[in-house]
Amino acid sequence: MVPAGTGRRRRSTALAAAVVAAAALALMASQAAATPGATPSTPEGALDIAQPGAKGDGKSDSTRFILQAWTHACRATGTQKIVIPPGNYLTGALLLAGPCTSDIIIRLDGNLLGTADLNAYKTNWIEIMHVNNFAINGHGTIDGQGPLVWSHNECHKSYNCKVLPNSLVLDFSTNVTIRGVTLLNSKFFHMNIFQSKNVVVDKVTITAPGDSPNTDGIHIGDSTNVTIRATTIATGDDCISIGPGTRTVRVHGVRCGPGHGISVGSLGRYKDEKDVEDVVVSNCTLRGTTNGLRIKSYEDSKSELRATRFVYDGVTMDNVSYPIIIDQKYCPNNICSKSGHSKVAVTDIVFKNIAGTSATPEAVTLNCANNLPCQGVQLQNVDVKFAGKGNTTIAVCHNVHGKATNVAKPLSCL
Ligand SMILES: *[C@@H]1O[C@H](CO)[C@@H](O)[C@H](O)[C@H]1NC(C)=O
Ligand SMILES: *[C@@H]1O[C@H](CO)[C@@H](O)[C@H](O)[C@H]1NC(C)=O
Ligand SMILES: *[C@@H]1O[C@H](CO)[C@@H](O)[C@H](O)[C@H]1NC(C)=O
Ligand SMILES: *[C@@H]1O[C@H](CO)[C@@H](O)[C@H](O)[C@H]1NC(C)=O
Ligand SMILES: *[C@@H]1O[C@H](CO)[C@@H](O)[C@H](O)[C@H]1NC(C)=O
Repeated sequence: MVPAGTGRRRRSTALAAAVVAAAALALMASQAAATPGATPSTPEGALDIAQPGAKGDGKSDSTRFILQAWTHACRATGTQKIVIPPGNYLTGALLLAGPCTSDIIIRLDGNLLGTADLNAYKTNWIEIMHVNNFAINGHGTIDGQGPLVWSHNECHKSYNCKVLPNSLVLDFSTNVTIRGVTLLNSKFFHMNIFQSKNVVVDKVTITAPGDSPNTDGIHIGDSTNVTIRATTIATGDDCISIGPGTRTVRVHGVRCGPGHGISVGSLGRYKDEKDVEDVVVSNCTLRGTTNGLRIKSYEDSKSELRATRFVYDGVTMDNVSYPIIIDQKYCPNNICSKSGHSKVAVTDIVFKNIAGTSATPEAVTLNCANNLPCQGVQLQNVDVKFAGKGNTTIAVCHNVHGKATNVAKPLSCL
């Protein structure tokens, strides 16, 4: 779930980004100028962070070696490769900012460890900002060392909390691939994709305990054309969450659990939120999650937007608590006025070929607003059985229009 503040933070990030990026570039330029004898950047050459002296002993601070390698790569041309060899590299905040004159690949064979010293971060840990044509690949790990700081997370107690650093953030970036790596135990979200385009997350593993606070797997906001495939996510919060302003998301071959499922929302909490449009979730498995496929919007939404054209096709539920859920009356901690006046229109949502088991009898929940019923909701070939004993699954529906085909009576409320 996205606590209050995260959205605002993202918005203020947007406003401040140009300034931050400019400052970062100036800083990098001055660092480079002040380092005579630094390795000249060779086009097409690999920059191995161990060469200038980064130690993979898990204790020495490797931050400056990675920032130096980034500076060189970013100011060069062609395709630049930064190699993080096997070993455990402890770092603080890594603002990897562009624009760059090169395309950059970070080859991650070792493990990056995010320091537990929270003073070493402003907001995020690894932040890719204004960078186009960029990739991280390899079989290494991005280890947030969350267990050392989760006790500082107050977001489950207070809604307006200070958020801990996200592990890997993409801001204002285009053509980005994250492939093969593992993200482990983030302090807050594992990945946050914001105002970015053409992003692929492929064969990534995200792992944190089921009871870890706000460790969302991948959050996407204000972004276009994001594909997540062949990825396994176990977390204490949403495996994938899709926020306002996001278009064209493809989620394919994702295994999720434990966690809170694959969510769109929460929508409508802030002013000026944009539509969420064209989301396809296919060939996924959810296991032991607290929700399955969820769309949620605030009961008294602050902005007028649409959640439209979603297709969920081919999803297996294994003991999922609320496998299919649209909640247009979402109101955590009773923060809403309960006016019941939704301004988030939910239309053209298809759930098809959904099979498996539900941990609660309520396998289908379509809870839409009186003033703005959900339109064009389709259930096709939905067969979810109760995982427990002595009961059957049912659908609980309010204010929803659409149709059901090949769905047994108690689940076909349309
Ligand atoms: C993204 O990749 C496409 C295809 O390779 C390319 O045409 C486009 O220029 C790239 N976008 C940016 C911003 O570099
Ligand atoms: C979406 O992103 C993928 C991967 O970067 C790219 O191949 C494709 O061309 C993009 N589609 C559009 C319409 O830009
Ligand atoms: C579906 O996803 C699983 C991983 O959950 C993968 O092994 C399989 O190859 C995928 N099937 C297709 C047709 O993509
Ligand atoms: C299903 O999940 C519930 C908790 O959500 C758990 O108590 C129960 O043992 C699980 N059942 C099976 C068959 O795994
Ligand atoms: C079956 O589930 C429904 C809905 O949760 C509940 O109201 C009912 O009491 C349950 N019946 C039994 C026999 O447990």
